[in-house]
Amino acid sequence: MKISVIGCGYLGAVHAACMAELGHDVIGVDVDQEKVDLLSAGRAPFHEPDFEDLLERGVSSGRLSFTTDFAQVADCRVHFIGVGTPQKADAHGADMRYVESAVQSLLPHLADRAVVVGKSTVPVGTADSLEPSVTEAGGVLVWNPEFLRESFAVKDTLQPDRLVYGLSKNPESAEYGLAMVDEVYADIIAAGTPRLLMDFPTAELVKVSANSFLAMKISFINAMAEICDATGADVTKLAEAIGLDDRIGRKFLRAGIGFGGGCLPKDTLAFQARTEELGLESLNFLTDVNAINERRRQRVVDLVVAELGEDLTGMRIAVLGAAFKPNTDDTRESPALDIAERLDRLGADIIITDPAAGPVIAARDPEAPIAADAHEAIEGANITLLLTEWDEFKSLDPTTLAPARKIIIDGRNAIDSTVWKNAGWTYYGMGRS
Ligand code: UGA
Repeated sequence: MKISVIGCGYLGAVHAACMAELGHDVIGVDVDQEKVDLLSAGRAPFHEPDFEDLLERGVSSGRLSFTTDFAQVADCRVHFIGVGTPQKADAHGADMRYVESAVQSLLPHLADRAVVVGKSTVPVGTADSLEPSVTEAGGVLVWNPEFLRESFAVKDTLQPDRLVYGLSKNPESAEYGLAMVDEVYADIIAAGTPRLLMDFPTAELVKVSANSFLAMKISFINAMAEICDATGADVTKLAEAIGLDDRIGRKFLRAGIGFGGGCLPKDTLAFQARTEELGLESLNFLTDVNAINERRRQRVVDLVVAELGEDLTGMRIAVLGAAFKPNTDDTRESPALDIAERLDRLGADIIITDPAAGPVIAARDPEAPIAADAHEAIEGANITLLLTEWDEFKSLDPTTLAPARKIIIDGRNAIDSTVWKNAGWTYYGMGRS
């Protein structure tokens, strides 16, 4: 089937490449000419495992192309909207201007009975407000939220846990939209993926409530980490024990410096802002979720200050990790960079290393204090902070490092404390000693 994907950021570019992999003819549209040129050359604009292989395969087969010109998508039967919904500059709500502009640019080129499929994470009520203009242009709207995780984006798109379709209240539109989206995802459905049908607002809410629940789970275990720190208990053992209760589950109970990235931080704030707009007060717990998350970052700063004193002038601090999680170069809302900035403000001499985000930061700012690897960063450091749990940091042999002082703060509870202590290091974990 001929389909388009509007917006070629993380979500859209991966979705486009995966749809081409499923055998569809796909055109990705983006307003950024540089990004379109890069993608057209089969080159990934960001670090994402397996993505570039798919991209190259799609482009060289002729099934995948990219353009800035909306007129090119006029003969597509399905259009996915995958543009970003960042936080507004001056408020907590989602900035909807990219979704609005994508839909407005698309509608004049919509073929009769083409299906517009919203994938962006949006405030509840968005699809209901967009549907009249899509219908007037001769199209049908479906809302199909995306649950992919960065660093597992290709797998999560081709083998998702579930497909969620938000369908129109108009039965004929709902039936037609369902059949068309089923055709796009035929292989995924044939593989046994659960497919859940619901109305627009429920589909929109599934996405934001899933992200809020994940954020809540992380902040819950981080609150337990605070109590463990105060009482000498071990949060990793606690998480393992409660996680074996399958009503709780083991995943997303890794205590540390908290969540970052382009989704959980802004989605929890936007969800709360939307409920306030609706006159509801029920999401105040998300204020605590974010407050706990914020305290995790300060916890690392406090530990550094307790070891090195309040004036960090001249103190070399090695920061292992800049990405918001491993296997990505994405530094949006990165807890690691936030901690580095807080320490920088206290006068510290920060040196950062990250296998994927490091080169990106260095290319953007040649003056940035980026080391080639952990050995270089740690050499002469007064304290070492492990803030993103890349494999190369987890497997470091502490006996091969040459810091000024052997102190490590393991912000992700990622390394074996006994090994480091036996090598003469002072070790601090998050909710475990
Ligand atoms: C998140 C969701 O997991 C996806 O399902 C969703 O589709 C996506 O947002 C989105 O809305 O687009 P992502 O932002 O890629 O995916 O990252 P996660 O894997 O959820 O991790 C988020 C943050 O939580 C990271 O900083 C990670 O280090 C942290 N984290 C995760 C913890 O601190 N502890 C954990 O146990 C798990």
